[in-house]
Amino acid sequence: MSESQAWDAVDAYFTDQLAPDDEITAAALRESDAAGLPPISVTANQGKLLQLLAEIQGARSILEIGTLGGYSTIWLARALPADGRLVSLEYDPRHAEVATRNIARAGLDKLVEVRVGAALESLPLLADENPPPFDLVFIDADKANNAPYLEWALKLTSAGSLIVLDNVVRGGRVVDADDDAADVLGTRAAIELIGTHPRLSGTAIQTVGVKGYDGFALARVLA
Ligand SMILES: C[S@@+](CC[C@H](N)C(=O)[O-])C[C@H]1O[C@@H](n2cnc3c(N)ncnc32)[C@H](O)[C@@H]1O
Repeated sequence: MSESQAWDAVDAYFTDQLAPDDEITAAALRESDAAGLPPISVTANQGKLLQLLAEIQGARSILEIGTLGGYSTIWLARALPADGRLVSLEYDPRHAEVATRNIARAGLDKLVEVRVGAALESLPLLADENPPPFDLVFIDADKANNAPYLEWALKLTSAGSLIVLDNVVRGGRVVDADDDAADVLGTRAAIELIGTHPRLSGTAIQTVGVKGYDGFALARVLA
């Protein structure tokens, strides 16, 4: 077995044992695929990690940047209490439409609101509403804007909130000095911000598996 075959097999084993898709999450993936959405959602075991993090956080309110078909949204929203709230920001109206259907099928439409538009336009509007601090923010949209998303997450959270930033390894490109693509620069800027910001304490972890070589960063808001 090659190394990458082993990564896939172990990923499949962990997912089967610990975080298998159920009818609802499987339908969300199936419908997203049928609608032609790109297969770039988190995996089931990553979705379960998000759910666990939200549960450990005791999250009552969650902000997600990058909805796609609502797959990660469903995992996250499952951690919320009956009076919880999840706001998910999505640029593409077609993605938002599919997500809205998937979220309704999951019975989570009372908790989840999908807002359509460029997140850098939606975030100031959200801030103008003075929402209570979000307990968890999941950033998973256009990677070029990772640092501004992190700055907005800081404005919309308070001490003890958790920020999760997805896809920070990008197959190792994050440390390729010759790679100055917008997604890589945006990811480096966000990692450097986590490392230097006085209100953040964070780390980043590499992952391998069915979606290749990537990783995520976690940052706790300190004050
Ligand atoms: C990686 S996908 C999100 C996957 C989703 N979180 C999941 O795991 O199921 C990224 C999403 O961000 C959206 N997006 C891209 N640029 C955006 C922007 N400027 N504002 C809001 N959403 C954006 C894309 O349309 C896409 O649906």
